[in-house]
Amino acid sequence: MRLALIAAMREELSAVLARMPDEQRQRVAGRDFWVGHWHGHEIVAVLSGIGKVAAATTATLAIHRFGAQAVLFTGVAGGLGPDVRVGDLVVARELLQHDMDASPIFPRHELPLYGLSRLRTDATMSQRLLAAARAVAAEASGLLGADTLATFGIGTPAVHEGLILSGDRFVSTSAESAALRRELPDALAVEMEGAAVAQVCHDHGLPLAVLRIISDRADDHAGGDFTAFVQAVASRYSVALLDRYLAAG
Ligand code: ADE
Repeated sequence: MRLALIAAMREELSAVLARMPDEQRQRVAGRDFWVGHWHGHEIVAVLSGIGKVAAATTATLAIHRFGAQAVLFTGVAGGLGPDVRVGDLVVARELLQHDMDASPIFPRHELPLYGLSRLRTDATMSQRLLAAARAVAAEASGLLGADTLATFGIGTPAVHEGLILSGDRFVSTSAESAALRRELPDALAVEMEGAAVAQVCHDHGLPLAVLRIISDRADDHAGGDFTAFVQAVASRYSVALLDRYLAAG
């Protein structure tokens, strides 16, 4: 069964490719798809692109042109839940497009003609991802070093499971994240791609799991150390996580 590893960040993809010694590159629609093996799994690895349309196109190509039968998405997100902190890991149980609004014809957030607003991830893949996330969180200081954790103010990372929001906006004001929290109080995190990939997987009846590392609190400081965080923390977490996930079965 070929698994698509869709990464939101270039640094994550580079780390993944370093683990796939036999990868072959194929360029389609301006994207580089890398086909190879990792822990004996057949993998197609690719950058998602940023935003819902780019990610949906990438996922569709991974499925139709590269035969992906399951999708695992990794990247960073802004924390929304009150106890979701920078450095925490969030596994999606459900994904919702927070900027979908065809009201009054359809209820706010509902995907028109689907009768759904929340799309569920695959329970088995998500359980495995949670187990990998817990193991990586427990080893965070060994993995990243105490200095890096201190630089980014990360204590012991927590692992959360629940609702992730996606929309075509980088949420970088406290007013906007407060509005999202009011509208969708159970949302844990916000990003720009996951729910679009979930819609593609839903349409094809394929299983999906999504992991996000919290890079900011989606507030007035959200732009701050973004690049440094991705390089020093997020890409190292995600490759360690994928390594555990794939080694487990
Ligand atoms: N990805 C990481 N942080 C984010 C934010 N604050 N809003 C949207 N996507 C993000």
